[in-house]
Amino acid sequence: MAEYAYETHDYDVVVVGAGGAGLRATLGMAEQGLRTACVTKVFPTRSHTVAAQGGIAASLSNMGPDHWQWHMYDTVKGSDWLGDTDAMEYLAREAPKAVYELEHYGVPFSRTEEGKIYQRPFGGHTTEFGEGPAVQRTCAAADRTGHAILHTLYGQSLKQKAEFYIEYFAIDLLMSDDGACTGVVCWKLDDGTMHVFNAKTVVLATGGYGRAFFSATSAHTCTGDGGGMAARAGLALQDMEFVQFHPTGIYGAGCLITEGARGEGGYLTNSEGERFMERYAPQYKDLAPRDYVSRSMTMEIREGRGVGKDGDHIHLNLSHLPPEALHIRLPGISESARIFAGVDVTKEPIPVLPTVHYNMGGIPTNYWGEVLNPTEDDPMAVVPGLMAVGEAGCASVHGANRLGSNSLIDLVVFGRAAAIRAGKVVDRGAAIPSTNKAGVDKALERFDSIRNASGGTPTAALRLEMQRTMQADAAVFRTSKTLAEGVEKMGVVAAKLDDLHVTDRSLIWNTDLMETLELTNLMPNALATIVGAEARHESRGAHAHEDFADRDDENWRVHTIARVHGAKVDLSYRPIVEAPLTTEAEGGISLAKIAPKARTF
Ligand code: FUM
Repeated sequence: MAEYAYETHDYDVVVVGAGGAGLRATLGMAEQGLRTACVTKVFPTRSHTVAAQGGIAASLSNMGPDHWQWHMYDTVKGSDWLGDTDAMEYLAREAPKAVYELEHYGVPFSRTEEGKIYQRPFGGHTTEFGEGPAVQRTCAAADRTGHAILHTLYGQSLKQKAEFYIEYFAIDLLMSDDGACTGVVCWKLDDGTMHVFNAKTVVLATGGYGRAFFSATSAHTCTGDGGGMAARAGLALQDMEFVQFHPTGIYGAGCLITEGARGEGGYLTNSEGERFMERYAPQYKDLAPRDYVSRSMTMEIREGRGVGKDGDHIHLNLSHLPPEALHIRLPGISESARIFAGVDVTKEPIPVLPTVHYNMGGIPTNYWGEVLNPTEDDPMAVVPGLMAVGEAGCASVHGANRLGSNSLIDLVVFGRAAAIRAGKVVDRGAAIPSTNKAGVDKALERFDSIRNASGGTPTAALRLEMQRTMQADAAVFRTSKTLAEGVEKMGVVAAKLDDLHVTDRSLIWNTDLMETLELTNLMPNALATIVGAEARHESRGAHAHEDFADRDDENWRVHTIARVHGAKVDLSYRPIVEAPLTTEAEGGISLAKIAPKARTF
């Protein structure tokens, strides 16, 4: 192996990733005087949060009555009763505070006539514990909410003197013999140097792994790097079979058309011009949750009522809305529709198709963002020195299906929670862990063997094989047959990691090498997804299993825990957290209110 010199850096906290969750954690840590570094493979304001459009959920009641308990109820029901109740309560309770903080940090929210934060309806957000009409709960900055949040958090983090290491690719975690995380090894992309970050706490905020699929709204950078590193460190991934398809990706291009489009009055039609959601979800129609709408669209297409010459997509209609409203509330998607579908939204419908959008699963954590290493004896055992937030983590607040606009609020609530926790548990006076040299050698050895990989399979070819397999076999609807085939095919695909061929051996701006490292991260995420899906013999949230069409609370109201060893996945299960943070007597929600029941809209 080549000799790699490396520079060491010592911090109280190192955050890996600079999207909404990473920046909110970075900012909160730095505000409390913790020496904080944020290491990111892309420039912070190019992180995937920049693409978040429709908004951030919080029960501010700016547009009508709302309550945190209603938000919690909707999140519980949205999760199809798989979320952890303490985390869901924390999310809904803390959301208003977290949004007002964003406002005070300077996020340029859209405004009502009275100057309050503008809020729009989003799927699955209701009033009166699901009995009342849809609520306007989603706080928006036009349809560029993620963009606004990301820029504000980056500016605030710089103001607090957080230190940024930009275009550094995290290779592997450093773990001590007794299972604590002590740092991370990184490759600096623009000059090829190696860097070891020693830290009392490492926070994984690396985003999702949408790019394990062929068609996704996720950026090409969404390669599950945190999950990959966790899996190689022997840690677990949780509930990976729950993959969200957003109903309105642009047909062919996959770019997101925000759910805010339906929130502002848009609706879906089939080839007969019928507003078919009225049949599937009589109460909330186009504003039913995403898993519901995506399945309804797929059923329309399957039954021969898709639009287009191949009858393989659906129309999203906005042309009945006033052009002024489209200009003010939905300028971004009007532009995307023009560029990527050649459509003038004031005149024509947008061709759309359910597209992979979000991973409900991830690295298991408690509601403070501390990573869990569940054992039979202790399902909530914490990994010292390691946290995970945002889409990389699984708190688990979204359970089997996430509600739209609960992602941005998850990023800021749990990024903030991780900072609050670190402020309490990180001992500022203690020494920073010394460099784990054996761990560094192991990470660099893996790096070197990938850099010099000389097999017969180009990275792009293997990635495509993985993406096509996942797209076909872990789709909106799944069957025992497609899942079994998918598991077998993915076993073969994953084994080919040993036969990769990297053409470029250089160290500076070597995108061939970086994409190969990313593929080694995508693969464990993809494997855990398909193996977990095959094993789960029920339908719940985004996991629609045609051979097991019903939800089975007796046997399957449990989190899937996947441990990936090469091409092999071991599964076990852990109970969900049923107890809320507060009892009814303490002002919390009544347990009867959130007891499992049929999920209709
Ligand atoms: O439709 C959207 O604007 C996406 C929002 C989300 O995923 O939360």
